[in-house]
Amino acid sequence: MEGDVAARRMSLHGRDLVSIRDLSREEIVSVLDSARKMIPFAEGRPSTALAGRIVAMAFFEPSTRTRLSFESAVHRLGGSCLTIADAGATSLRKGESLYDTIRMLSSYADAIVLRHPHEGAARLAARASDRPVINAGDGAGQHPTQTLLDLAMIRERFGTLAGLKVVLLGDLKYGRTVHSLAYALAEFGSEIILASPEALRLPEEHREDLKHLGAKLRDEPDLDKAVRQADVLYVTRIQKERFADESEYRAVAGSYRIDAHTLREAKPELIVMHPLPRAGEIASDVDTTPHAAYFRQAFLAVPVRMALLQAILGPGRRRG
Ligand code: NCD
Repeated sequence: MEGDVAARRMSLHGRDLVSIRDLSREEIVSVLDSARKMIPFAEGRPSTALAGRIVAMAFFEPSTRTRLSFESAVHRLGGSCLTIADAGATSLRKGESLYDTIRMLSSYADAIVLRHPHEGAARLAARASDRPVINAGDGAGQHPTQTLLDLAMIRERFGTLAGLKVVLLGDLKYGRTVHSLAYALAEFGSEIILASPEALRLPEEHREDLKHLGAKLRDEPDLDKAVRQADVLYVTRIQKERFADESEYRAVAGSYRIDAHTLREAKPELIVMHPLPRAGEIASDVDTTPHAAYFRQAFLAVPVRMALLQAILGPGRRRG
């Protein structure tokens, strides 16, 4: 279901979330404000905000945090979930198209959260569904709800999303979390510093789009230099599953790693973030430093997804 522009400006009620660019700056801030108020509910205070509502979790690619934090968010708000956690157990195995699967699901649930290995799958699903579709990651495309929680983490620590220096480290070619986050950082006016192995550079089309938005964007191949300047160091996993061939992956595997020593000249207020799972990019000796923010970031997934689901599904202004 794709909302019209007028409804977009008014409310998130009944809308899809496919790309972070579907949300205005004001809408992002409003979700983050509600997320802050949701924290006690994410920690266990009972709520019935989604009582009687059903949210389908359609996960066609592995996930731990994203699916479980969405499910936790629904349950904490008194709603219930229908979950596909193993694509192999569905009729896709029998040759059913994604379009048909989503169309059917949209008659069983009030909203659909979709993760899929193909870029563009969430946009297709939004067309197939007459209920809101939330993109929980489409291939190397977008991961807008991860961006919302990333922004919540940054704002909780710095009180702002503007004027910060954010280093994006790692797989900037295939990483959907950075593809989403970079747009939001550009919108809010933070500086984006790109640190990646040459083979995993941020693709040209994203660079051009970001520059078009007026992003402050630059490359910093020297990791020590990048770390010294950073307010936020956003580390990512090499997206092994997206490489066309294994030797291409092996050539870059293990090419960067953050440990307590790497952070020796960092600003005291630097936070290290990671969407997780980590696969060796951040050594465990960082966990006990005041820089480590990734576990708090993972917790914030719940109140942020609660706030988003409530805005999309809860009582609110109707479309049209
Ligand atoms: C990320 C993803 O799936 O894109 N994980 C997540 O949602 N927390 C990052 C990754 O898998 O590396």
